[in-house]
Amino acid sequence: MPIGAWSSAAVLDLFPGESRAARRLVAVGLAAAGPAALAGWVDWAEQRPRQARVGLVHAAANVAAVTAYAASLSARTKVRPALGRTLGFGGLTIATAGGLLGGHLAYRQAAGVNHAEAVPVLVEPGWHRVGTLDDFPMGEPVRRIADEVALVVVRDEDGVLNVLADRCSHMDGPLHAGKVLEGCIECPWHGSQFRLSDGANVQGPATAPQPRLDCRVSSDGTVDVRLAQQS
Ligand code: FES
Repeated sequence: MPIGAWSSAAVLDLFPGESRAARRLVAVGLAAAGPAALAGWVDWAEQRPRQARVGLVHAAANVAAVTAYAASLSARTKVRPALGRTLGFGGLTIATAGGLLGGHLAYRQAAGVNHAEAVPVLVEPGWHRVGTLDDFPMGEPVRRIADEVALVVVRDEDGVLNVLADRCSHMDGPLHAGKVLEGCIECPWHGSQFRLSDGANVQGPATAPQPRLDCRVSSDGTVDVRLAQQS
């Protein structure tokens, strides 16, 4: 939102008679910068060192952009429009550089993306054998592979087999190494919890659910899984 408001202000700055509207947009961008920084800080706090370093530079660029826009708003309020515009264009240049780093973090370094998104594409349709009933002790997460995709299988206290993608949607943590707690499995890396029955994320920091697979047990005890059917 700050970049959108400030970009729009920069467009208005190119036209005479639009200084009031431009000033308002600069103020809107500044007001939105606080919540944006808070959301960014929450994301940054869980990153690996490589992403965290880029995130720090991204944050520094954004602080510089906010400073330039605060000075720009002050100049505009004191009826020094030329200085206000100049500071605004400078702030937009810095904010754009910060935004490019944010894009690098998301698209190149996969910070904050759903790491389990590809599972429904990678697992071929149809049933895949993952073992026999005896391979899955009650309440104990067991890792299995289907189509080279890691899965975690948990047999609950009612004897029902629950199957989720094993790599956590947050940052790839191995769910099979986590704890089973009241119908959920907790990721050992940052504590996200996913409901075993449907993969819903009931506790963050993960923001995406975990892909779930259907499971069937044949009369001879063999266990097969397949991608959950969409209802
Ligand atoms: S990897 Fe972060 S909560 Fe699972």
